[in-house]
Amino acid sequence: ELTRDFLYALPKCELHLHLEGTLEPELKLELAVRNGVDIGQSTVDEITATYQFDSLASFLGVYYPAMNVLVAEQDFYDLAMAYFTRAAANGVRHVEAFFDPQAHTSRGVAIDDVILGYSRAARDAAGLGVSAALILCFLRDFSAESALATLTSALPFAEHLVGVGLDSDERDNPPAKFAEVFALAREAGLKLTMHCDIDQVGSIENIRQVLEDIGVDRIDHGTNIVENPELVALAIERGVGFTTCPVSNSFVSADMKADEIVSLLAQGAKVMLNSDDPAYFGAYVADNYVALVEKAGLSPDDVVRLAKNSFEASWLSADEKLRYL
Ligand code: HPA
Ligand code: ZN
Repeated sequence: ELTRDFLYALPKCELHLHLEGTLEPELKLELAVRNGVDIGQSTVDEITATYQFDSLASFLGVYYPAMNVLVAEQDFYDLAMAYFTRAAANGVRHVEAFFDPQAHTSRGVAIDDVILGYSRAARDAAGLGVSAALILCFLRDFSAESALATLTSALPFAEHLVGVGLDSDERDNPPAKFAEVFALAREAGLKLTMHCDIDQVGSIENIRQVLEDIGVDRIDHGTNIVENPELVALAIERGVGFTTCPVSNSFVSADMKADEIVSLLAQGAKVMLNSDDPAYFGAYVADNYVALVEKAGLSPDDVVRLAKNSFEASWLSADEKLRYL
């Protein structure tokens, strides 16, 4: 009954997706040629051969250099439209997509071109039957001052944003480092989410911080919260969503974390499945459903619950959610 076709057609939201993580080798090559950027490879096969990761750090070491091909507003538009087209084919009705402005502004790209290119694509995604919103992510291995400066330069474009997030290397970069910038983002009316990557030292303390000190609306990854029943209870009481990414997990920690995801689902946490960086991990969101169904033997009820959770944990308005649920 849970066929691949069913899992692809199932209406769903995608809530953990890095637009820069959707850069397929073909588009990377096209943009490298268009912008005259030397990426060190000259064929799709050569690019694909560099996509080998066994940790977050080794993934990030390929992910950031690739962004050199993104230069003009049109490049950001083209990248996002290619993703929205694939999302539509994966049953995605609504997406809240991350982007990493500091990975571009630190190379001299204007934040205006990043935000306006992505938001023009988000508007045009409606023509594909996908509504799209943007989450500005701060790079946690950059300083708090850099995050603050980024927020300040983005606030004139706040109408194009639904929230802020926190990604990149978590080691020695705890949530508390960004308490001030997240408080300011909340005052500006933005929703809050932060990555709590699995398998990082001190990770359960970071989950405690995001729930108790920052007061996030969602947690990205964070499935190791199952180690601490009190924190699970707090997250469930607050309706905090968990944006989990099974195939990504299987790359960066050699484990899909299926038991943790299924446990959170069974306990009533608002957990759903997402693709994270699909061009690099070789699976868009529907294939994450396929992979977890296969691994964990999910029932049809489980799968429908995951898809419902994706709408409930989204930042659509109550009225908009009613259209889907
Ligand atoms: N974790 C941290 N940083 C990232 C990720 C992730 O899953 N994807 C892109 N940047
Ligand atoms: Zn992520």
